[in-house]
Amino acid sequence: MSTPDFYRNVRAYDIAFGDRDFHAECDFLNWCLLAHGDCHGEPSFLELACGPARHAREFARRGWHSIGLDMSADMLEYAARGAEQEQVKLETRCADMCNFTLPEPVCLVANMMESLTHLLTNDQVVAHLRAVARNLRAGGVYVIEMAHPAGIWRESLPNRWSASAEDMQVDIVFGLREDPYDWITQQWTVTTQLTIREPGQPERFVEERNNHRWYQPQELAALIALSGAFSQVWWYGDMLVPPPALDNSESSNRMIVVLRR
Ligand SMILES: C[S@@+](CC[C@H](N)C(=O)[O-])C[C@H]1O[C@@H](n2cnc3c(N)ncnc32)[C@H](O)[C@@H]1O
Repeated sequence: MSTPDFYRNVRAYDIAFGDRDFHAECDFLNWCLLAHGDCHGEPSFLELACGPARHAREFARRGWHSIGLDMSADMLEYAARGAEQEQVKLETRCADMCNFTLPEPVCLVANMMESLTHLLTNDQVVAHLRAVARNLRAGGVYVIEMAHPAGIWRESLPNRWSASAEDMQVDIVFGLREDPYDWITQQWTVTTQLTIREPGQPERFVEERNNHRWYQPQELAALIALSGAFSQVWWYGDMLVPPPALDNSESSNRMIVVLRR
């Protein structure tokens, strides 16, 4: 498996997807461990498909043993640089989230921002779930953040927004209306476009197409059961403390899956 070029523009990614309350999201992740796990010893956290590792850096700031894992060396370099600037201790690992081994299992694992959509086949998801369970302590918890099933169809496209920081302004397209959907493999070919403006530099335009698969709750439930890797599953509709249930109401605006080993 190789990393999409979209993620080579790490600074642009971080700005484009940085408008989130990472502190509150980490409070929610910690709540999941306290409410659904039973893990003793040193608190430890693994962020899978971590990108800039904003969550792993936040747990490091809280004094946890914290690890960011990604397939992209560029992302990990950026994450490590950020941790260094913030003077927090972050461990980084370059690996495929379907097949990895940590020296020691951890208490809490998270997979944020729909990164599971990079896994395109049932076999990959099952291998991934088993790999996570192998690296979780007994009683440890795995949290997956995905889009709400009602939000993944064509009506919401194109998905465009802009974001900026002092050193860069980015216009982002993540999905066009004409992107093809394969009804058999259930994969979208998603167009991504980044228009990047930096002071004193010519404007850059980066376009790419990558396949993603957004999982529906019933198929994800079946794959979790098939993996045999977890003892219990909870479904939530947002990352609040306490969270709302996953349902068809307005308060449910994403799909959060909490798994206990
Ligand atoms: C949407 S970004 C998510 C970054 C981060 N979790 C966040 O919340 O912003 C997806 C990340 O998944 C990584 N990735 C894609 N497939 C992967 C795989 N099979 N194993 C590990 N990382 C993967 C990409 O390199 C990219 O950094």
